[in-house]
Amino acid sequence: MASPLLARALETTTPAVSFPKGFYWGAATAAYQIEGAWNEDGKGESIWDRFAHTPGKIKDGTNGDVACDHYHRWREDIALMRRLNLNSYRFSIAWPRIQADGKGKPNPKGLDFYSRLVDALLKARIRPLPTLYHWDLPQKLEDAGGWTNRDLAGWFADYAEIMARALGDRVQYWSLLNEPAAFLSLGYLDGTHAPGRQSILDFLRGTHVANLAQGSGYRALKAVCPQARVGSVFSMSPCEPATDSKDDRVASEHAHAITNLWFLEPALRGRYPNAFLFSPAAFMQIHRDDMDRVRAPLDFIGINLYYRTVVSAPPLGERLSNARYMLLPARMTRGQKGSKTDIGWEVWPRSLYDMVMRITRDYQRPVLEITENGCAYNDGPGADGKINDARRVDYHQQNLAELARAMRDGADVRGYHAWTLMDNFEWAEGLSQRFGLVYVDFATQKRTVKASGEWYANVASRNAVPSL
Ligand code: FCB
Repeated sequence: MASPLLARALETTTPAVSFPKGFYWGAATAAYQIEGAWNEDGKGESIWDRFAHTPGKIKDGTNGDVACDHYHRWREDIALMRRLNLNSYRFSIAWPRIQADGKGKPNPKGLDFYSRLVDALLKARIRPLPTLYHWDLPQKLEDAGGWTNRDLAGWFADYAEIMARALGDRVQYWSLLNEPAAFLSLGYLDGTHAPGRQSILDFLRGTHVANLAQGSGYRALKAVCPQARVGSVFSMSPCEPATDSKDDRVASEHAHAITNLWFLEPALRGRYPNAFLFSPAAFMQIHRDDMDRVRAPLDFIGINLYYRTVVSAPPLGERLSNARYMLLPARMTRGQKGSKTDIGWEVWPRSLYDMVMRITRDYQRPVLEITENGCAYNDGPGADGKINDARRVDYHQQNLAELARAMRDGADVRGYHAWTLMDNFEWAEGLSQRFGLVYVDFATQKRTVKASGEWYANVASRNAVPSL
């Protein structure tokens, strides 16, 4: 093993890929996954509180009541961000902390929490990048129909306006929704996430209401803060045909439309892409003027990327027996060729290049931010107390090399956010999947920077990634 001096010398002489000046090196989190304090200071119940409190819904039986206790430890967590040399922090605002029932007057204690957080971030020279909705819908709004109720778009716009008034003097960059395709497919179609519905109809209607909310939220923010840069965050995954056959290629384009474009094309072009065999407009309850209301000329597109999707055309027999295939004739599976992370997702760094390039080509080189990219590896402290998560270093290094390649090939990418700052509550997986750059001992709440965190701190300070 090299001496520390030699190691440092090697580190500074290894060839590196530089990123443009001012590139944002960030980490991302979400309120329910880290804050805890689920019923403190006037916070209302969210669909995730309800879901995680329901026995059998979370694999390891845990919930987000405490999570990383960030609501009480945020100062310590900002100190960690400084240690990692971050210049951007993507977090989410818990809607039920601001409006316990999702409507009406804001809760001053909720506003104060985020206001203090933003002040402290700015003082630490870290850009605050809040997301307005990262899945914790006020339960009262779910009781009123949730994403299938068109009124939700207006309530979301009211909430966006409240936040713009509260933080708009200091926050310049905003994200509207986090991964609408994910929260609607998992929450309303598969039922594996809150609120646990299983209905194609609810899913389709929900997607339209989410598009309406996205457009309305955009306008509400801009009305208060015309200078703000407002984007939205999409879960994306390149959809590759399983074989070169025409059927598989056609199927993969259907899959691409529903996976990657269903909330982007309405915002940027005021129309739905051709995902389905016949138009689902009748089920979606699209009203006159709706396609104007869903428009939102996003100032940036947030891409969350974890894996690629392999697509094949289902055989005729299956098409006729499976209602989903009648609408969307595409069998989608996660790629299987590469190594797997501990959550079972394939490592395939090229997918970041492919996705960024496809969006760059098809939408005339929009401004992009990688708002999430990361991996679950459950390495814990060794005998010396250090967490040597070498696989996570490899993961980020390879993904960043692909991102740099996309930027060389013309993509306009302004930032990269590792998912996630610290190990946290991973939705239906509970506390069992660790994605963090920082290790959290959930019994004591002790945080320890992992080897990947040290590596990322170095990358951020040099604004460069060591060559592979
Ligand atoms: C994304 C979510 C994020 C996190 C990662 C692993 O889909 O946006 O909250 O759970 O997956």
